[in-house]
Amino acid sequence: MEWTREKRYLPYNQWDAETLLQLQAQANNSKYQVKYHIRPTSGLINDPNGFSYYNGKWHVFYQSYPFGATHGLKSWVHMQSSDLVHWENLGLALGADTKYDSHGAYSGSALVIDEKLFLMYTGNVRDKNWARFSYQNGAILDKDGQVTKLPEPLLTAPNHVTEHFRDPQLIKHRDQYYVFLGAQDKTTLSGQVALFRSSDLHNWDDLGYLDFSDEVMGYMIECPNLVFVDNKPVLIFCPQGLDHEVSAYENIYPNMYIVGEQLKFDAAKMETNQKSPLNLDAGFDVYATQAFNAPDGKTYAISWVGLPDIAYPTDTENWANCFSQVKQLSLAEDGTLIQRPVPEMANLRHNGVNIRTSSAINNVQVVQDTAGQQFELKVTIAANQVGTLHLAANSNLSESLKLVFSTDCDARLTVDRTTAGIQYATEYGTTRAVDLVANESLDLDIFIDGSLFEIFINGGRQVVTGRFFAPTSNTKVAFTSTKALGYSGTYWQIEHI
Ligand code: FRU
Repeated sequence: MEWTREKRYLPYNQWDAETLLQLQAQANNSKYQVKYHIRPTSGLINDPNGFSYYNGKWHVFYQSYPFGATHGLKSWVHMQSSDLVHWENLGLALGADTKYDSHGAYSGSALVIDEKLFLMYTGNVRDKNWARFSYQNGAILDKDGQVTKLPEPLLTAPNHVTEHFRDPQLIKHRDQYYVFLGAQDKTTLSGQVALFRSSDLHNWDDLGYLDFSDEVMGYMIECPNLVFVDNKPVLIFCPQGLDHEVSAYENIYPNMYIVGEQLKFDAAKMETNQKSPLNLDAGFDVYATQAFNAPDGKTYAISWVGLPDIAYPTDTENWANCFSQVKQLSLAEDGTLIQRPVPEMANLRHNGVNIRTSSAINNVQVVQDTAGQQFELKVTIAANQVGTLHLAANSNLSESLKLVFSTDCDARLTVDRTTAGIQYATEYGTTRAVDLVANESLDLDIFIDGSLFEIFINGGRQVVTGRFFAPTSNTKVAFTSTKALGYSGTYWQIEHI
């Protein structure tokens, strides 16, 4: 089927129920489907939106196009949870159904205001000539789960930005509201974070662009997200087209962060000692991460595992992408971000099996012959080792997702998906490497969920996230090494939820 513009922007009510049911079944029955992460009921999922805590529950919404694996007419779908791990799908929350969001209810954020959850999002609108207009709209979710859109936009684009002006993040600081928006400057065509202030959510002062770097941040910044981590301001953002000389990255578009020392809201300035942004995730597929400061004093983040403008193998099954698990953020002594699984993730573990160095046969140590499609493997590899951990491997290990490690003087972990099933996005590389501290042991906490892997390295000092599309019969986990190998850990099956 060809995705014409007409088709992609067809109002949802012009699709028939049977097609939707078929698409849902197709997503549900896919052998690549994830079972303990947020995934689309049908079609395509992209950015997390409105990640928040309200009325005794955690909330996150996803950008949804339910009728296929394409970026069509977007809406928000509401997910709710009591523990940040088990999520319940409450269905459509914001559709593209007013003149201020006719071509998509695009990304945004949520903030508890007056006992209601206030949603601020971008209304994407196209005119007859397909010229784009971006409105920053408001909606209110009440305690009964009812969403009411505000009749007029909260904020319209200032004349110093191009049509690329979206993804509002609303926060309250002292007694003022501030909104951070992804923008492209009209004069320089550079990526910017626009900052506005209001006392009533309707009248906004334009504070200009956030000054957080001397470098040019590509041609467009998407999904800016300002959170406090251990009392320091951290800007998480997606600088599209960032010069590789500014910060090295391999994915088509990077999701990066800068840790600040101080945020001067009214001066639109974040003071920082960090010269250039760092990759938030060292893997292949993380984008549009959204984090927020929760009332429990912690900072939580969740990512879209998927990238814009990349074709994924499940496109042919008419669904695409998923979310990461929720990650708890903190700062390491060297000022970089630590991302860890939330403690409740451990409640999904079943049938733990201790694993440790065994005698190698032909340099192979089998950890699990049939690890299944959903599991967690926590393993410590001793210092001064060299080898490969094969995940989702076939019997002779010619196919696997390879974790090639050295914990000697030249310490590195390389995640190689070259032999891990269907190849895609290979022009952006098939390996990702993380430097480690020489001669130290290596802690890995590995989560596999169907076609998703998340590897937390050394307590979350680095995270390597990605998708892989291997035959489901490849369920072996094994170490290979030409030398004696020391490791120990635990393997658990993970509950389907
Ligand atoms: C990022 C993004 C946002 C936009 C949304 C539309 O992936 O392009 O900038 O609001 O997706 O779905």
